Amino acid sequence: MLNNTYSEEIKLVAKPGEIPFAKGLEGVPVGESTKSFVDGLGGKLVYHGHPIEELCEKSTYEEVFYLLLNDQLPKESELRDLTRLMRSYREIPGDIYDLISKQAPRYGVHPMSVLRTAVSALASYDETTEEDSPSEQRRQGIRIVSKIATITAAIARARQGKPILSPRPDLTHAGNFYYMLTGNTPDNFYARLMDVLLILHADHECNASTFSMVVVRSTLSDLYSCVVAGIGALKGPLHGGANEEVMRMLQAIGSLDNVEKFLDDAMSQRLRISGFGHRVYKTMDPRAAILREHAREVTRRAGTEHWLETAERIEKIMAEKYGQRGIWPNVDFFSGVVMASMGIEPPMFTPMFAVGRSAGWVSHIIEQGNDNRIFRPRFIYVGPEDESYQPIRDRK
Ligand code: CMC
Repeated sequence: MLNNTYSEEIKLVAKPGEIPFAKGLEGVPVGESTKSFVDGLGGKLVYHGHPIEELCEKSTYEEVFYLLLNDQLPKESELRDLTRLMRSYREIPGDIYDLISKQAPRYGVHPMSVLRTAVSALASYDETTEEDSPSEQRRQGIRIVSKIATITAAIARARQGKPILSPRPDLTHAGNFYYMLTGNTPDNFYARLMDVLLILHADHECNASTFSMVVVRSTLSDLYSCVVAGIGALKGPLHGGANEEVMRMLQAIGSLDNVEKFLDDAMSQRLRISGFGHRVYKTMDPRAAILREHAREVTRRAGTEHWLETAERIEKIMAEKYGQRGIWPNVDFFSGVVMASMGIEPPMFTPMFAVGRSAGWVSHIIEQGNDNRIFRPRFIYVGPEDESYQPIRDRK
């Protein structure tokens, strides 16, 4: 155990590899939280004690957001109040629609970059951004969760040259999001499916994007800055960006006959199979199992059963060959099949993830207010000491 006292400073200077440390902070607790728990060997996920399976079956995104914010399920009047507030916050400033309309269709611009910029811009339209009392932060958090869905749907529409749709106050958060994305009022099936997608992504303990936000918040920076950091972290293909990569892989594989060779080639080159593996789960991610079941009906409706067949073939071969090494499907594996079958284009998969995850992000940040300390870990210095300064003309 390192002894970090004022009298005895740890001198972290070493040769590369000399001082052991937990790379990627594997297994290192960085705080306490009441929000969610991942049982990596048991393949279980709970939000404040409630199993994800039960929430997906019985709850709504609004209710889960309330649960994450308040550590208890709402009474009817409490849910009504939150729902009313969320609806009232759905609209976004005209300038942000303009920004999205200009940036989203630009060639090569990833929608996560537009989302990050738009959420950052939102901060300047919220007069309370610099106020960080718990009640203001709560209101800001509810605004962000509401508006991030409007922003994401607007990006999806603008990318495709379709008119951006204003939010509809008569629909639920999930139903309205589906409407703003597709232009169709969802029937019960699609409204429910969207709720399930958002609930499944709502929180996941100390994942990379939540941790990024927690680090930013530890400096007492504002909530918008935290969410922007979270979006930046989620974008990467090792985190939320994996869902888009899975779809690319399914397209590259093409037919069922190619699956085994594709996987063998990739694994022998030590490439990562997107949508597989996890730092905490060493068995099937329960979210993947839920999504696989929902994929059956949505692929049947959309006529995209071939994607599910290919995905299940990948799952089977990976389980047979690599399951014992703890490499199993994670949430991103089947979510692409589901979202593509809902008519959502692959670059929008990670922004969809962000819409769901926003509930967990803001809940963790508000929780952190109770017990904050700035994050300031150490690097082990493995560079040279006492180098001499050469005049520029003498440098080789
Ligand atoms: N494909 C092939 N091999 C894998 C994979 C994979 N997807 N994931 C892990 N491994 C192997 C890895 O090569 C290593 O083998 P070895 O011990 O022989 O070097 C072993 O499993 C342990 O992997 P690790 O690098 O220690 O795992 P990690 O905890 O550092 O990384 C991960 C976790 C999720 C980044 C990684 O599993 C991965 O790159 N997966 C693919 C990307 C992905 O699906 N990301 C989504 C994660 S879940 C949802 C989310 O956060 O958005």
